[in-house]
Amino acid sequence: GKVYLNGNWINSKDAKVSVFDRGFLFGDGIYEVIPFYKGKAFLAKEHLDRLKYSLKEVELNCDISNFDSLILKAIEMAELNEEDGAIYIQVTRGMAPRTHSFPENYKATILMYAYKTDLSGFQNQFSDVLVSSDIRWHRCDIKSVSLMANILANTEAKKAGFAENIMIRDGFFTEGSHSSLFFVKDDIVYTHPNSPFILPGITRNLLIKLCKENNIEIVEKALPVSELNEVTEVFITGTTTQITAIKNLHFPDKDIKIGNEIGSITRKLQHLFSSEVK
Ligand code: PDD
Repeated sequence: GKVYLNGNWINSKDAKVSVFDRGFLFGDGIYEVIPFYKGKAFLAKEHLDRLKYSLKEVELNCDISNFDSLILKAIEMAELNEEDGAIYIQVTRGMAPRTHSFPENYKATILMYAYKTDLSGFQNQFSDVLVSSDIRWHRCDIKSVSLMANILANTEAKKAGFAENIMIRDGFFTEGSHSSLFFVKDDIVYTHPNSPFILPGITRNLLIKLCKENNIEIVEKALPVSELNEVTEVFITGTTTQITAIKNLHFPDKDIKIGNEIGSITRKLQHLFSSEVK
């Protein structure tokens, strides 16, 4: 397929980046993943606003004013106008001799492409997750391509047979390696407040809105691990996760079962979410 690289649509096998690109040398870059359903980008503005925020927070200068039209083009170039999938966007700080500090003048490297992925069937999943300690840096609100902690933890989960891991920092659940995290306790939905310790998930934000519009009580408060025994439902959300119900939590020393079937609040939110994307 074709990818967009620095202004041109080219065959992916011809798309090359310098070994001196700071994205390659330092992981000095920002990314976004935008879902599309039947060829239609979902919450694109929210994703592009978050991209702008991430770029600003790391002082990465890049004009993204044409990205809203580029993402439509990406779907078209991949011939996915009738399909479900995602658009991957990456902006790095470009090419420079290797020094930690970045130069004043640089030309950002921009990569974008659309790919097909299965965004249906999440309602039938009832997944297990590994519980990992959150060893990420203190700016998880920035969607940085430096994802070492996330990939190590998620690979451990995959090896144990689970698709996702959820993380604990200082006795509180934060989020997944690539998803946001929700708990239900006393019929109240809990999720970590936006802070430097989580990514402000676009799907998370939609879920909060859906709760508020449908009289489901939602509290943006981190759940202490010590209160897990009071939890009746757990689910994770994200661009590629939608709303996936969690059945078992696997700690290094014990397994905690959440329920025998997907909980009623999770079900309700899955239905509300499905009508949003249709
Ligand atoms: N990940 N938290 C983290 C750490 C994430 O990486 C993601 C998304 C989310 C969910 O955010 P959203 O609802 O905006 O997709 C939460 C993307 C999909 C990825 O890394 O591939």
